[in-house]
Amino acid sequence: MALLMVMNWKMHPETLAQAKTLLTATRKYIPGVIVAVPHIFLTDLARRTRAGALAAQDGHWEKTGPHTGCVSMAQIRATRTQYVIVGHAERRMAGDTDEDVGRKVLSALSLGLKVVACVGEQSRDEQGEYLLYIQKQITNIIADVPKSQRAHITIAYEPIWAIGAEHPMEAHDMHQMVLFIRKILFESIGPSGRSIPILYGGALTAETLADMAQNGEVDGFLVGRASLDTAQLKEMGATLKAL
Ligand code: PGA
Repeated sequence: MALLMVMNWKMHPETLAQAKTLLTATRKYIPGVIVAVPHIFLTDLARRTRAGALAAQDGHWEKTGPHTGCVSMAQIRATRTQYVIVGHAERRMAGDTDEDVGRKVLSALSLGLKVVACVGEQSRDEQGEYLLYIQKQITNIIADVPKSQRAHITIAYEPIWAIGAEHPMEAHDMHQMVLFIRKILFESIGPSGRSIPILYGGALTAETLADMAQNGEVDGFLVGRASLDTAQLKEMGATLKAL
């Protein structure tokens, strides 16, 4: 199965013109890509792309209301965007609790959006406490999702210590984490957990993609910095083709 590639532009680029250029290059090199762009560009970019190519980077769970600076899942849906990232580490650091993330997941799914829900520990400890932390984050995301909507969820595992770092985690360690996440999903929702895609994110580059794809047992990637660099995009596209 083709790997699912989700690009997370975060708060880049500065202008709509730059966003259009970057989106065109991204789609040229990586067919089937999903690009998570800043809210302000969604409306314009959604007009220029096939349905399913864009994601929002976050969304509020209420449809409308007194939430200055926020954008609702309903507003995102109205732009014809089909995906939304929820629970990214940078949103959690800005205050999103597990409970907020759970509400966002349910709101997005109920409006027909597909969700990329992020989890990841701050650091690892020898006692394995971080595994309980991941378990709690995942259970919180998945437990209340109606059965009929589970197919619209993707889990992105992004250890916070790898986001923005020099190197991604080891592919072998990711393989272990995928097994662990699969076990949690199975325990929480049964066999349907098997078909939920699991992505890796954190310092992924064109150079590290092949190893992680072949040895990490992942279903795809959530890419930050490298998604802003056309040389990286081109190389990632070539690597994906050769896999
Ligand atoms: P990075 O970011 O690839 O720049 O480490 C990944 C992310 O935060 O999604």
